Amino acid sequence: MRFDDQVVFITGAGNGIGAATARRVHGEGGIVAIADHDHSAAERLARELGVRALALNCDVTDRASVDAAIDTVRSRHGRLDQLILVAGGSAPMPGFAEQEDQLWQQLIDLNLVGVMRCIRAALPLLQQSPRAAVVAVSSVNGLAAFGEESYGAAKAGLSNLVRNLAVRHGPDKITFNVVAPGTVRTRVWDHQPGSLQRLRQFYPLGRVGEPEDIAAAVCFLASDDARWITGVTLPVDGGALAGPLQWFDRAFS
Ligand SMILES: NC(=O)c1ccc[n+]([C@@H]2O[C@H](COP(=O)([O-])OP(=O)(O)OC[C@H]3O[C@@H](n4cnc5c(N)ncnc54)[C@H](O)[C@@H]3O)[C@@H](O)[C@H]2O)c1
Repeated sequence: MRFDDQVVFITGAGNGIGAATARRVHGEGGIVAIADHDHSAAERLARELGVRALALNCDVTDRASVDAAIDTVRSRHGRLDQLILVAGGSAPMPGFAEQEDQLWQQLIDLNLVGVMRCIRAALPLLQQSPRAAVVAVSSVNGLAAFGEESYGAAKAGLSNLVRNLAVRHGPDKITFNVVAPGTVRTRVWDHQPGSLQRLRQFYPLGRVGEPEDIAAAVCFLASDDARWITGVTLPVDGGALAGPLQWFDRAFS
């Protein structure tokens, strides 16, 4: 019951990794604010969880929407203890030379500025909590070359953002960390049938991730178990980034 009596705000909590995280936090006693721009998905999960769950309409690309969602938590609960930032995603891109500024700006805005907006709005409440933690969900795309340059650059930015905030707000006793998942079985892969099966081979542990694998790591970093960990990016990737041993084995076999 690591989140017993804690107020936890989770963006992108209507589906996938965010929903798995909300279920786990709630299962460990937390009061969960399910913040998503897909309000019906947020409502559905809030109904499923029942007591201690609040659905909030929140678009992380819109400052007023983020500020209003945090304000609702302030007036409802009077405090906020953990901030978990999962909302994000990529988009189909043309070849690099054809990529328009606007598409880059959209992906940076959603994946990097969106996280900053939420932290900025929540900071005054987090500074009053004795157990404050911020965890943002990035991607292995932010740590190595997997294509999707704009998405990768935005996710890479999260690692530096949390390092700076970890140092700046260390004296406030707030921890800031990032989880960088590898491929995870969520609806984002639905439009590419067979892709998860093909990607399995690149994972030393022999499978792609499940949303619960990521939720477990996020909840660890958001909990008191990680109270002396701050400013880190933790890959949760079935070993995908561990090293190129398989290539060498293939080259010399
Ligand atoms: N699925 C993967 O393979 C994978 C791998 C690495 C990283 N990630 C990252 O994990 C996070 C969650 O991905 P997922 O696979 O669970 O996706 P998902 O589509 O299942 O869930 C994302 C949720 O975020 C919400 N969302 C999107 N834009 C939003 C906005 N502007 N404001 C508020 N909410 C918004 C969506 O409505 C949805 O509920 C993303 O940041 C993604 O980049 C996913």
